[in-house]
Amino acid sequence: MNVKIIYGSDTGNTDYVIETYLLNELSIHFNEVNHVNIYNIETADWLDDVLFIIGVPTWYDGELQSDWDSYLDEFKKLDFKGKTFAMFGLGDQIGYGEYFVDGIGILAEIILKNGGEIIGFWPTDDYKFSASKALVNDHQFYGLAIDEDNEDELTYDRVKSWVALLDKICKG
Ligand SMILES: Cc1cc2nc3c(=O)[nH]c(=O)nc-3n(C[C@H](O)[C@H](O)[C@H](O)COP(=O)(O)O)c2cc1C
Repeated sequence: MNVKIIYGSDTGNTDYVIETYLLNELSIHFNEVNHVNIYNIETADWLDDVLFIIGVPTWYDGELQSDWDSYLDEFKKLDFKGKTFAMFGLGDQIGYGEYFVDGIGILAEIILKNGGEIIGFWPTDDYKFSASKALVNDHQFYGLAIDEDNEDELTYDRVKSWVALLDKICKG
């Protein structure tokens, strides 16, 4: 299976996680791995038969990263029937614990509403926060939560385990 990462990044942390960890890990488990900045997205990018990996940091008390925010109206119009998504999001659980990785939840809601399937839910046990829109239930996020602000030493292991989980789900 091929993978396309579609992501945004205001201060480069999401970029860094993709370049340093995610591309390597994905290339171990999947065939072709591409990445497109949401700033440069074209409608045709959504037509490929791939696993879409959505990367979204949260900004300004529970808002989407700026380029995702600018694209949001277009995103809401897309038909995701038959498409499979996995999501990861960067956030700061100490500084913004009331809005931790909300961006994952904002986009997840649209993906599900427009017919897409989301795989790769991630346990919340390892994080300390008071609220998040990214929750599927009491113990899972819709995708991988990464906290480069406070726990960058955990990022590599988190990415590695999550990609292995995606591989396992995709291979059924
Ligand atoms: C002004 C500001 C607002 C932020 N708001 C949130 C927030 O509401 N929720 C959250 O989880 N993280 C929040 N963060 C943390 C960012 O998501 C985090 O620094 C992330 O790594 C940024 O990723 P990027 O460099 O790819 O844009 C905020 C950071 C700043 C500086």
